[in-house]
Amino acid sequence: MKWRSVSTMRYDFETVIRRENAGSGKWDEIKRTLGCFPKDVIPFSVADMEFDMVPEVREGLKAFLDRSVMGYAAMTEEYRQTVVSWEARRHGWQIQPEWIRDTPGVINAFFTAVKAFTKPGEGVMLMTPVYYPMYAAATRHDRVLVDNPLVQEGDTYRIDFEDFAQKAAEPNTKLLILCSPHNPSGRVWTREELERIGRICIDNHVLVVSDEIHCDLLMPGYKHIPFGSISEEFAMNSIICTAPSKTFNLAGLQTSNTIIANEELRQRFYVEQQKDDGNPKCNILGLEGCRLAYAYGDAWLDECLQVIDTNRKVITDYLAREFPQVRVTRLEGTYLLWIDFRGLGIECHELARILKEEAHIFLDEGFIFGEAGEGFERWNLAAPTSYIQAALSRLECLKKHLSGMKREML
Ligand SMILES: Cc1ncc(COP(=O)(O)O)c(C=O)c1O
Repeated sequence: MKWRSVSTMRYDFETVIRRENAGSGKWDEIKRTLGCFPKDVIPFSVADMEFDMVPEVREGLKAFLDRSVMGYAAMTEEYRQTVVSWEARRHGWQIQPEWIRDTPGVINAFFTAVKAFTKPGEGVMLMTPVYYPMYAAATRHDRVLVDNPLVQEGDTYRIDFEDFAQKAAEPNTKLLILCSPHNPSGRVWTREELERIGRICIDNHVLVVSDEIHCDLLMPGYKHIPFGSISEEFAMNSIICTAPSKTFNLAGLQTSNTIIANEELRQRFYVEQQKDDGNPKCNILGLEGCRLAYAYGDAWLDECLQVIDTNRKVITDYLAREFPQVRVTRLEGTYLLWIDFRGLGIECHELARILKEEAHIFLDEGFIFGEAGEGFERWNLAAPTSYIQAALSRLECLKKHLSGMKREML
């Protein structure tokens, strides 16, 4: 069945602004692999969107450039209020303007937090497989990774709370980097799960750094609970990392808001920022881009989420019909679909090769998210539906390999 564009949409989610030779790593991989940029091929890997900018942000930034000086930037009171209002409006969390620290990206924020709140030799817990830079944050500067593997169950993942509690209770474990919603599993943690996580961490003096960069990207029926909103006690034991970068495709502006309710932690975070990272600052366009997106982006985001949900259905239905051995993980949040190809019996590097070189489908290999990701691929759904459909039709070439494998076995 052919997907039809939703004619009632106010915004354009069908036109691709091609980024060939434009300094995009994910696009460059196409040329490195195929020697050229075929017109019908776009990448579905790294988590930025193949959608045009939010028009209100583009126009707002143009107007800002016309009237501004590109000097050093600091958050204005209006900026802080816009972030406060976004958290309240979209997630029902009432934060105070002074809790916000601007940070040049969420990776920068969780690296800073690890350095600020742990010492060399101390343990940093992750729930794996997880967003790969978190492994680096947990092991660099002589910190030790404490692994709490998620359990794959049917088409989703659950937390092994027995293991979690045991690892959190080890005296050396000092900090948890929580990925909420979770990349790549697509889980949106429930209130009950978050309460259990938070309780165990408080009881064992483990600080929670909650990376909530995907919090605005929710599938129908799911609700994100900001970790710090659960209780005063949770807010006092957490650092919350948020950003407009995934939500509004502004990753290149390197602007994030780290929300720290606990004044002492906020001060220690700030001292660490000054110490190791020299002078990390958000740039003036990033702050204005964030303000514009949070002030005027609601309608665009709501439509964008519909497109992501459509893409999820298109891929899920196609795979169920054509490759029933492939298991699609239930998507609750993020725009990243986690697909288990192990049922095909193709070795994971060979699978990646076939997808890229033969099917011209550029995804993120699951193994970059750790051992538990081997045999998976992560499909970025923030792209026009027509390109996703075209890519799926090229997946037919996998069938040739599967019948070859069957013949060899006979
Ligand atoms: C969970 C998570 N955290 C952080 C980032 C990157 O954040 P930033 O670009 O703000 O450093 C990503 C990007 O995909 C992500 O998925």
